[in-house]
Amino acid sequence: MSTATFETIIIGAGAAGLHCAAFAAKGGRTLVIDHAKKPGEKIRISGGGRCNFTNIYANADNFISENPHFAKSALARYTQWDFIDLIQKYGIATHEKTLGQQFCDGSAQQVIDMLLAEMAPAELILNTTITDVSHLDGKFTLSTETGRAFECSNLIVACGGKSIPKMGATGFGYQLARQFGHDIEETRPGLVPLTFGDTDLAWMKPLAGLALPARIGCAGTSFDEALLFTHRGLSGPAILQISSYWHETLPIHVNFHPTGDLANGMIAKKHENGRRGIATVLADFLPNRLAATLCDQMQATGNIAQYSDAALQDLTAKLQNWPLTPIGTEGYRTAEVTLGGVNTDGLKARTMESKTTKGLYFIGEVVDVTGWLGGYNFQWAWSSAHAAGTAIAKDQQSGD
Ligand code: FDA
Repeated sequence: MSTATFETIIIGAGAAGLHCAAFAAKGGRTLVIDHAKKPGEKIRISGGGRCNFTNIYANADNFISENPHFAKSALARYTQWDFIDLIQKYGIATHEKTLGQQFCDGSAQQVIDMLLAEMAPAELILNTTITDVSHLDGKFTLSTETGRAFECSNLIVACGGKSIPKMGATGFGYQLARQFGHDIEETRPGLVPLTFGDTDLAWMKPLAGLALPARIGCAGTSFDEALLFTHRGLSGPAILQISSYWHETLPIHVNFHPTGDLANGMIAKKHENGRRGIATVLADFLPNRLAATLCDQMQATGNIAQYSDAALQDLTAKLQNWPLTPIGTEGYRTAEVTLGGVNTDGLKARTMESKTTKGLYFIGEVVDVTGWLGGYNFQWAWSSAHAAGTAIAKDQQSGD
């Protein structure tokens, strides 16, 4: 079979790969190749089907990486406002949900259709698994399961992380990175529900489905968002956020009442009516079932009048700094992202090009840059895609 030749080949028709094609195609014949049946599958299911495509507050502080400075250059040169302009150019109606998160009013498919329209004249081949990549005399050759082979001068690895294998995640990008001598920061599931052992589950399980605003802290970082009890432990945005900072054996600390003065509120209630039960009074501040369960856990019973002001301060201090040690996470099966990935020391921050192999680029989730929940991961996909794509187009135009 003959070998088809392209200037640039992008492995992965996800957020980063599709967007990169729009820029790279300006520098010559470009192909996006994916083993999935459809492009942009994660975009399609993201944000509950409405795609939280960026966040107006995005900056390097919202990303986790061994090198916290690495993402700055790409994020600054293609910002959330650039992507919002593009969305507006296509007339896609949007809204801000909370905390700067931008969503489509309609469907995430609109974003996929926009990316496909933007990448023309780049070509797209689906249902094609790459089995091998070799590199000789400045050319990359890709062999595929179908027997077709492809050749290119620029190879962009945009095959994402390990999250949600059912959706086509493979970890192939890490394999390629290692093949070309790149180090991989240890990978682990991020933005993922946390699981708990039997002792904690015994009181958590009956609360499954209950959600409340909370502050969750771990390893010096905390998030104020919703906390959700599940049959396996804890979820909700606050837990997903903190999961990216959590490591095995570390406790997390839950503040069940992060705003307002709980201690003085309880003391005031005691002076109003000391005959009310402690759990009933706590239910003025927390959902009923949770108030009852937490009082049970603290063995706090009887009327509130039995508690001195100091005892109420101790009790509320516990409720605002409740330590819990997860036994694990729900894993890649449900994780929204993969933490870790291609070590950024081996990449040029301006272009995402490998420092050791000319023409080899890594973009999107495969790189050791992981965003918070709230549109940040897509912004990283768009920004890193732009960095690599424009660098390639510029090189070709200058005949480099
Ligand atoms: P992505 O995973 O999108 O694409 C990689 C592509 O490579 C896939 O198409 C895959 O099939 C392909 N591929 C993998 N291995 C291959 C191989 N060996 N050969 C060929 N192709 C291969 N983020 C956000 O900012 N806002 C949001 O609302 C959400 N919501 C959300 C919901 C859910 C359920 C998940 C799982 C994730 C999110 N995210 C998110 C995260 C976001 O989806 C993610 O960070 C980006 O899709 C990453 O884009 P990439 O292009 O890097 O990888």
